[in-house]
Amino acid sequence: MNQAPLLELKDISKSFGRVQSLRGINLNIRSGEVLGLLGDNGAGKSTLIKILAGVHQPTTGALVWKGQTITLPTPRDAMARGISVVYQDLSIIPLLSIYRNFFLGREDDVAIRLPGLMVLKRHKMRCIARDALKQLGIHIDDVDLSVARLSGGERQSIAIARAVHFQSELLILDEPTAALSLKETEKVLSYVREARRQGVAVVLITHNISHAYEVCDRFGVVYHGRIAEISDRNDITTDELASLINTGSRGIAA
Ligand SMILES: Nc1ncnc2c1ncn2[C@@H]1O[C@H](COP(=O)(O)OP(=O)(O)OP(=O)(O)O)[C@@H](O)[C@H]1O
Ligand SMILES: [Mg+2]
Repeated sequence: MNQAPLLELKDISKSFGRVQSLRGINLNIRSGEVLGLLGDNGAGKSTLIKILAGVHQPTTGALVWKGQTITLPTPRDAMARGISVVYQDLSIIPLLSIYRNFFLGREDDVAIRLPGLMVLKRHKMRCIARDALKQLGIHIDDVDLSVARLSGGERQSIAIARAVHFQSELLILDEPTAALSLKETEKVLSYVREARRQGVAVVLITHNISHAYEVCDRFGVVYHGRIAEISDRNDITTDELASLINTGSRGIAA
């Protein structure tokens, strides 16, 4: 994979008052790959992706998107660039139906605006949502079901399908499998693979090394706010990853 990176993080640091959460982060993210972002509690993973999501501003350093230096002052700016973040629970509203969740925040695409009134093209919304889910291998015919009736894995799948459908170029998943059963986890990982196949760059944050090892092409390990190492999957073992997460180095090979 020699293509230019989709996104480059150059010497990114982030301080909250006197707490320095990130120090000198250099990292490239490429289209069509899954990059696993690993690290212990408090290492700085969420802070890092919140910078990519337009939630936090870096204290120093630069973001380079397709060769151009950019800033992401708000989450809306990140979204407009095609950066989507799927959080464990926050991206889905349980009481709304599947198709309404699918178009959440994007109703303008499928509505007729009259003075003081917005009329949704519900038939169109249902069809698009059903098809987009199907494209990812998720077969849910009744998109009128409320999301409250779905499992955690199915909820994640809707968030992922939505991000792929609305042409996200960078999909960030922060602990998407943390609360899932083994079977549901396998499904979510298969949706991640499908997103990659469609050319999306995926950043997967997880504490679970074996899940990460199953699906990631590369790993970046964050240790105390720094990148301890970036490695291709083929050049590292799960034991070495565990050591990097816990100590910041690979340790002595057995
Ligand atoms: N808004 C904030 N204000 C002050 N400190 C913060 C803020 N957000 C994060 N931090 C600090 O930055 C450090 C990194 O936190 P972060 O949430 O990025 O870790 P993480 O790698 O995502 O951990 P976890 O695996 O537990 O989710 C922690 O020491 C945390 O207390
Ligand atoms: Mg976190």
